[in-house]
This record gives sequence, C-alpha cells and structure tokens, in this order.
Amino acid sequence: MDPALAPSAARPLCVLKFGGSVLTTRADYALAGAEAYRHVRDGETVIIIVSALQGETDALFAEAEAAGAGACPAMTARLVRLGEYRSAALMGLELARLGVRARVLDPHEIALEAEGDPLDADLVRLDRKRLDAALRDVEAVVLPGFTAGHARHGAVTLGRGGTDLTAVFFAAQAGARRVRLIKDVDGVYTDDPARDPAARRYDRLDYDAALKASRGLIQPKAIEAARAAGLEIEIAAMGAGHATRVAPGPAVIGAPVRARPLRVALLGCGAVGSGVLDHLIARPDLFVLNPVLVRRPERRADDRRAAFTANADRALADAPDLVIEAMGGVDQPAGLMLRALAGGAHVVTANKAALAARYEALKAGARMADRRLQYAASVGGGVVVLEALDRLRNRGVLSVEGVMNGTGNFILSRLRAGAAFDDAVAEAQRLGFAEADPSADVEGLDAADKLSLLIREAFGRTVPPGAIARQSLRDATPARIADAASRGEVFKQVGRCALKPDGSVEASVRVMSLPLAHPLAGAVNEENRFVVTLADGSVHALYGKGAGRWPTAAAVFADVMDIARACACDGPRRAALAASA
Ligand code: NDP
Ligand code: HSE
Repeated sequence: MDPALAPSAARPLCVLKFGGSVLTTRADYALAGAEAYRHVRDGETVIIIVSALQGETDALFAEAEAAGAGACPAMTARLVRLGEYRSAALMGLELARLGVRARVLDPHEIALEAEGDPLDADLVRLDRKRLDAALRDVEAVVLPGFTAGHARHGAVTLGRGGTDLTAVFFAAQAGARRVRLIKDVDGVYTDDPARDPAARRYDRLDYDAALKASRGLIQPKAIEAARAAGLEIEIAAMGAGHATRVAPGPAVIGAPVRARPLRVALLGCGAVGSGVLDHLIARPDLFVLNPVLVRRPERRADDRRAAFTANADRALADAPDLVIEAMGGVDQPAGLMLRALAGGAHVVTANKAALAARYEALKAGARMADRRLQYAASVGGGVVVLEALDRLRNRGVLSVEGVMNGTGNFILSRLRAGAAFDDAVAEAQRLGFAEADPSADVEGLDAADKLSLLIREAFGRTVPPGAIARQSLRDATPARIADAASRGEVFKQVGRCALKPDGSVEASVRVMSLPLAHPLAGAVNEENRFVVTLADGSVHALYGKGAGRWPTAAAVFADVMDIARACACDGPRRAALAASA
C-alpha cells in the first residue's frame, strides 16, 4: 500500500453474510460481488462472511461419516470447514475481477477463537488490532464463516447456520454499523411464504419474535449474540433495497413490494455491454431484455444470451423502463438517450464523450421526463469517484487531480517496461481498455471529457472538454521515460482541475514525470487514481481499476440496480425520481 493513499478518514463498516442459499453455483459469486460493490460505492468498508457453496457442507459431512466421523467430532470439524475456505477464495477472486480492493483472511490470521463442542462451538475472541490492520488499506475483507481456532482442538465449527454467528460476532467486535444476512428470501415472514401465500413480511421484529418466527432462517445463537451486543441484524435478499430488521421494539409488518421485471434495452455489447449483459441475464426475476443493439448482429450467431439487432427501433421497442447505453460515440447515443428519456425510460450510460458534449440537453431531458440519468462508470470505471464527490461536494472541493485514463496509464506502464508505443496501444485495445478510436486515449481527449464531468460534479461549473489544455502521450518518448527513471521519476497522464480565488476553474491534462513518492505515481497499468482536496484541508484518495469489462460493468450494473430498487418500491412508472436526474 502506498502510504500517500491511505484512507484519510475511517469509512463506516458493514458486515455482509452470503449463505449457501444464495451461493448455489459459481455464477452466484458475480451477484455477491455486485452486492459488495454496492456497499463500497456507498462509502462503506465491507467485511464479507461466506458460507460454503450450497450442498458442499452436506457432502463433506457425508464424507466424514463414511470415514468414521462418529468417533471423532474434532476431526469431522477439520473436514467440514473446508467448503467455507474454498468459498472465501472464490469470493476474493470475484472481487479482484471487479477491481474491488480486497483481502481474504483465514481465521488464524486474526486469531479468531471459539470454545466448546468442536461441531457446535461459540466464538469468544479475535485480535482486533490484526483485523484493523487488515482493513486499513482495502475496501473489503473476506472471511470463511462457520469455523474458528480452538485452544484444544486447533480448529472447530460453529454448528449449522454458524456463518450467521460469525457475521454477528464480527459486526459486534469491529463496531460495524450494520450486519446484513443475505438469504434466498427478502426477510422474515409471519409464516413460510412457500407454504402460505398470505404470509406477510416483517419490516422489524425483536429478538424474541425473531427466535420464534425465523426458525431455520437465522441461527438462534446468532440472534442471541446480536441481542447481547445490542446489534441490529438485517435479513435481505440479494440486491434488495428492503430488509427485515431484527432490533428492539414492536413488530412492524412491511408494505408488500410490488416488483415486476423491468423491460431493459441494452445499446452496445462490446467490452462493457457484454459484461452488463451477463449481469442482466443473471437476474431474470428483475429484468426482461429487448433485442440488444449492435452494429453487426450477423457476428452474434453463437451468442445465445440474447437476441441482437442493428435496428435501434427494435432495440427500443415496447416502451422499455430502462435503457443502458454502452455503444460509444456522441451524436447517435445522445440522440437515443434523449429519445429513451422522452419515452419515459430511465437511462444508464458509461459514455463520457456523449455526456461531456451533451450534458445540459441530457440533464434537461431527464428532468423534463422525470426520469433518472445515471453515469457512475463514465469516470474512473469501477473507481467510485463520482459517488465520493457527491458526498464531499458540500464540504467545499478545492481541487481534483488524477490519473483518469486507464489506457494512457497502461501504455505508459508498458513503455517504461520497454514496449514499443504501437504495441502498447494494440495490447490496450485487445484487453478492452481503449476507446473505439484509441487516439482519444493517446491525445488526452478521453481524460478531458472526464475532467469536464468532474468539474461539474465538484464545482457545478461548465468547462467544455475543448477548453481544457491537453498534452499527447507521445510526448513521453523512450528517451524522456528513461531519463525520468534515472531520476527516480515516472511519467503519468494527469488531469487536474482547481477552483481559483475568483471562482473560475483551471483545468489541464498533462503528461508529466512525477517523483515515486507522489500519490499518483504508483498507479500501474489500467489503474486510475484520484486525489480530492477539500477546503478544510482534508485529502481524499480513490483508486482502483479504471477501465476494462468487469470493473466498468460493475459500476453500470450498480446504477441499474439503484433504479431497479427505486422502481420496486414505488412501481416502475410512478417512481418520482427526478430529484436525482
Ligand atoms: P466497444 O467498442 O467494445 O463496444 C461498442 C458496442 O456498441 C459494440 O457492441 C458495437 O457493436 C456497438 N455499437 C457501436 N456503435 C454502434 C452503432 N452505431 N449502432 C449499433 N451498435 C453500435 O466499446 P466499449 O464497450 O469499450 O465502450 C462502450 C462505452 O463505454 C463507451 O462510451 C466507452 O467510452 C465507455 N467506457 C468504456 C470503458 C472500457 O473500459 N472499455 C470504461 C468506461 C467507460 P458491434 O459489436 O457490432 O461492433
Ligand atoms: N478508454 C478509457 C480508459 C475507458 O482507458 O480510461 C475507461 O473510461
């Protein structure tokens, strides 16, 4: 970790638990990753506790039984805990793919200890200092639930449903503001909704009522542990906005959630759109898809995920609730987005070129239609810089500077390693980082588009991309790069905007050599880094993967899920959402 980029303020902690009911196949880790990313973008650091994949613990118990488990519970515990270790590693791999800065911990690394029966032990302690150190420079920490160390047996398990207990214990020990148990139902019901369709969902119920009502859903030991710690538990479904809160106070029955799948039009299925498509088809309960707009549908014969069309009218047919634009360009996508908004659809886009060029028109279109226009992925890819500025703006932003073009940074990293310029560009294209015309990356146009959007978010001012001075990456010649390296410096493409005393904004995209100690100098390959300085002198750093399919698709899909949640609460067509447009 680069100390210059250590978080400047403690982020609130949230504990998420993914049980076997929602981790049923390997594909479910993508949904779990999207859920974790949602909390990261809300500004939380996430402790993720995972169960084994569904069926795996049963299989391990059967294996232990076949090997004579009855004789030795402690040996059985050693075997049956392995599903959780595998699951934690799979979750860590998924977060790495998304670009979420995460660490996977084994229980012994934070001295997590339990006492009692090796197959039904109770958690008693962990080393808080080691946990704090593990959380310091990451956005998420992943741990296997259900298991812990034990003074006599070495390793034990916590009984059926023990991952719930692990989650509650971590929330209490780490001072988390919430613990959310993600299940295959959206809360605790008055009766089993599978048996009784008239069963009603609680919004809130107290610990005693939860013990009675949630038999089999929440581990009783976990409820008791929450009561002892005065901690609130949320029971929720993957991606849901609502939850049942287990907390002191009278029981409250929740209003029914009127969800129907949203009709979605996806425009573009390249590096970004294809990842978004994977997310959409993983939630057929939430989304029905129109034919996807591409230029050359004839090349998609083998892609069975969706129907494809080159006809925008077909892609936008049947009054979609939501249009996702991932095609690139300016005039055509802007026109399609305006048409979608006017037709009553919410719009999500990753297209900074169209946004920067048509910002006022698109915002006005959203306002007039009372629809949402969301574009988290347009700056920073998976880095939550626009979300952070939204939270920081009212504290007074003085400046934002950053490495904000992943392709440019990738090219400079490759040049420093001795690659030829054109080879580095071609590699960035192959990896899905570059714009359709990579000269937008090379000449700083893409960074200028992003800077123009950052200026609007940070200062509420209009500085068109064309008014921002730029330098070309080609200025970083091999000789200058070698010279910088000999001085202990590294070339970066740096976008910077700052508020001047007269209220105007200065902005530039420069290609410059930075000392290695500079907060932006450590960005490698497609990484983006941003440093936001506030009027109170505080400095806030954001960094992560700034380009590529999965980080960008995660940011687009997080916007999509925001809209799906808002529509589920209020009914898709009646949602009063203009305030956020
Ligand atoms: P790609 O070039 O990989 O994909 C573009 C897709 O849109 C393709 O499926 C293409 O069809 C389709 N398309 C393009 N033009 C038309 C058209 N005129 N009519 C119909 N279909 C069209 O681009 P990316 O996925 O990389 O980027 C998409 C957007 O996301 C851009 O605005 C980009 O700036 C932005 N973005 C990209 C990031 C990245 O890392 N790549 C990160 C953040 C934002 P076909 O497949 O037939 O060619
Ligand atoms: N071409 C862009 C980049 C994509 O490399 O940063 C992400 O916006």
